[in-house]
Amino acid sequence: MNNNVKLNIENKAYELPLIEGTEGEKAIDISQLRTKTGYITSDTGYKSTGSTQSAITFLDGENGILRYRGYPIEQLAENSTFLEVAYLLIYGDLPNKEQLETFTSGITRHTLIHEDMKKFYEGYPSKAHPMGVLASMISAMSTFYPEAQKSQLNPEEVDVTIRRLIAKSATIAAWSYKKSQGLPIIYPQNRLGYCANFLHMMFALPTEEYEVNPTVVKALDVLLILHADHEQNCSASTVRMAGSSHASLYAAISAGVCALWGPLHGGANQQVIEMLEQIRNEGSDIQKMVAKAKDKNSDFRLMGFGHRVYKNFDPRAKIIKKACDDVLEELGTRDPLLDIAKELEEVALSDSYFVDRKLYPNVDFYSGILYRAIGLPTEMFTVMFSLGRLPGWIAQWKEMRDNNEPISRPRQIYVGRKERDYEPLEKRN
Ligand code: CMC
Repeated sequence: MNNNVKLNIENKAYELPLIEGTEGEKAIDISQLRTKTGYITSDTGYKSTGSTQSAITFLDGENGILRYRGYPIEQLAENSTFLEVAYLLIYGDLPNKEQLETFTSGITRHTLIHEDMKKFYEGYPSKAHPMGVLASMISAMSTFYPEAQKSQLNPEEVDVTIRRLIAKSATIAAWSYKKSQGLPIIYPQNRLGYCANFLHMMFALPTEEYEVNPTVVKALDVLLILHADHEQNCSASTVRMAGSSHASLYAAISAGVCALWGPLHGGANQQVIEMLEQIRNEGSDIQKMVAKAKDKNSDFRLMGFGHRVYKNFDPRAKIIKKACDDVLEELGTRDPLLDIAKELEEVALSDSYFVDRKLYPNVDFYSGILYRAIGLPTEMFTVMFSLGRLPGWIAQWKEMRDNNEPISRPRQIYVGRKERDYEPLEKRN
């Protein structure tokens, strides 16, 4: 490949370097563009802008390919565990037995949260959305562990912060659910694995024995693996951007949780279930919902459909759809919302509006049904996405700091008023 591209601006020729990734993706390096030409590029929403060079996740939206550190998502979902995938994303390779044991026990030993932090739960209103609780509690962790701000590049300190984040976020999440139900919190159990421990803290009661169902543990593992990273999406970019100011890892992750919350990103999984419930409550009129999604006078979108990058299919949605069938069958339950979802998918995929715009079910379309089967309430869905995405955010932050990336600071084209003089109050209309 020719390593340069020629650019002509106002009859002057410039050469800009080309970059090619390991999977053949090509980019024009414009980092010197403004210095050389006085021009910047304009790309609201970053549809054609690469913000970094990353070795974590490869995503080919045209062909529905997703790989973490080179491993296909299908193989990881089938064979791996969430903590193994977390290690892979953060440290670059699958752990050997000893590395996995050290990593796992490090997380197990950090699941308790500081007793003083427990008091914060008394201050949240009972209807507090658990995403708000998660974001603020993670941010509050920075006040309990201020050394994370001071020693950001000390590998041992970073490793402890990583373990604290992964371990304590699960406890924070489960306790926010207990709080919303007015139920006593359940402390973590070191004898249980990550997913089993989370389910135990969510569903056990002090009054009776609680057996964790292995089918549910496996389903949760798969869900978390599928959500673990997705390259430079809105929340990962937020984490990198917040971290680029050298704010602590806690602060950057808390920012990522907030970015994920929105319905166009991680919040879509909650909205999908609400949409399917609405269809059921209104007499299962799927055509009506599809017509509303196509109506340009309406703001309504088919939640769980479409993706900025996937234009063929979302490989995560394929795995989750199958897992939904398997888990519901193994648990011996039926969810009428799954039938509605399947019918809705069929109708949309044979409609030229969705076909022409390459709108396919994304990861959120079926994940809510699986969360429901596991017994998780709708408000917890985006929290589950956060727990899954945590290793990805950490890996993105670590890569950005290890590569000593500069502070993120985009430019803009100013389109506001030209200079004008201050008018005294009595002279204003
Ligand atoms: N329902 C109806 N129309 C849609 C939808 C949808 N779900 N998604 C996109 N469109 C239309 C959109 O109106 C536009 O039409 P037109 O060209 O006539 O103006 C066209 O498709 C392109 O849409 P866009 O908004 O320019 O695409 P985008 O890449 O900016 O947005 C998206 C991607 C995911 C935000 C969008 O598809 C969407 O809002 N989907 C619903 C929310 C959702 O499911 N979000 C979860 C995303 S996956 C989880 C994650 O990684 O966060």
